[in-house]
Amino acid sequence: MILMGKKRKLFNTMITAYILFTLTVGVTNSIVAYLDDHVGAGILKKSIVLLPGLSLNSLIEIAIFALSVYLYSRWTSKRITGPLEKITDAIQKMRKGEFTQRLRFKADYELTLIQEHFNEMVAHLEKTEAEKNKAEQSKQRMLLDLSHDLKTPITTIQGYAMALQMGVVDSPEKQRRYLEMIYNKSVIVTALVEDMFQLATLDSPDLPSAEEQEDLAELIRQIAIAHFDQFEQKKFTLDLKIPSHRVMVQMNRNLLYRALSNLLSNTLKHNPEGTEVALSLTDTDEAVLLQVMDNGIGIAEELKERIFQPFVRGDEARTGEGTGLGLAIAKKAVELHGGKLLLKSEPGKTVFEVILPKN
Ligand SMILES: Nc1ncnc2c1ncn2[C@@H]1O[C@H](COP(=O)(O)OP(=O)(O)OP(=O)(O)O)[C@@H](O)[C@H]1O
Ligand SMILES: [Mg+2]
Repeated sequence: MILMGKKRKLFNTMITAYILFTLTVGVTNSIVAYLDDHVGAGILKKSIVLLPGLSLNSLIEIAIFALSVYLYSRWTSKRITGPLEKITDAIQKMRKGEFTQRLRFKADYELTLIQEHFNEMVAHLEKTEAEKNKAEQSKQRMLLDLSHDLKTPITTIQGYAMALQMGVVDSPEKQRRYLEMIYNKSVIVTALVEDMFQLATLDSPDLPSAEEQEDLAELIRQIAIAHFDQFEQKKFTLDLKIPSHRVMVQMNRNLLYRALSNLLSNTLKHNPEGTEVALSLTDTDEAVLLQVMDNGIGIAEELKERIFQPFVRGDEARTGEGTGLGLAIAKKAVELHGGKLLLKSEPGKTVFEVILPKN
């Protein structure tokens, strides 16, 4: 590309020299013809007194050539200084953090190349800046949500504790209920703090990633067994389709257990009695697909896009005891395994899909 530019420059210079030369000859011939007609041919051949040996003819030629060169160099320098001014201006704007501007000028190859690189650079900076702002905003929102979710149970704890401390709760039964309430709220606070800690840990660069080859089919069986009691209590049905052979996947077991069990506990937590749940694991050469399906209340359309963001909960789940961090943790955990967590939901049917690569 650079060679092309150099060749073109040489070609341009030759063309310019040719134009200047023809211009000089042409204009000189016209002047000479004019003087021939009106003043007489003799005067053109006479030497000039100040410069012996130099005829008026040659002097006209020199003057016209000098003028052409002067005008051409002015024009060229403008073609260079114009874009350079624009570049300087753009750099100054960039230093002030303006990344939306782009350079648009027509110039020689080298300057056009600078323009292209400059525009690529500001486009990259603009994208990085937008991502930084987005991350900053989501961090701010997360802190607000966290402080709100912490404040509610802590205020309740304070209220009950104060009532007990002041001795205004007389009956032992009421005292027991107050203490139970304090304990339950403290469990919520602990869960919230633990979940936040886990979410933050998942962003940490020194987190041990998927280091062990383990049997995913067995892990899912264990998760199902751990939820068996709750399935019975809520009169849910659970249809398990898991291969009988081992499905070996490179994994961080605890992390994947936490992520997958949240998907199953969600079906229990957010759906009414009698919901049917199906859990299926499909094993292929390249990847494994886990589907957690239920025919419960479904997930509202406007929630689908944000469902994996921290603290996002459906209206009906707001009063419950979930932290709203489960899916955010699950998504990060699955991605840490090089996989994907997707939601495919329609009214009355919710399907969460986990795709994990096999390497
Ligand atoms: N299977 C499901 N059926 C219906 N709604 C669901 C289902 N799974 C998730 N949801 C909705 O998605 C929201 C987010 O789920 P997520 O697991 O992140 O939080 P949570 O279950 O409310 O709390 P926790 O942090 O304890 O898991 C839930 O509050 C619920 O509204
Ligand atoms: Mg959950």
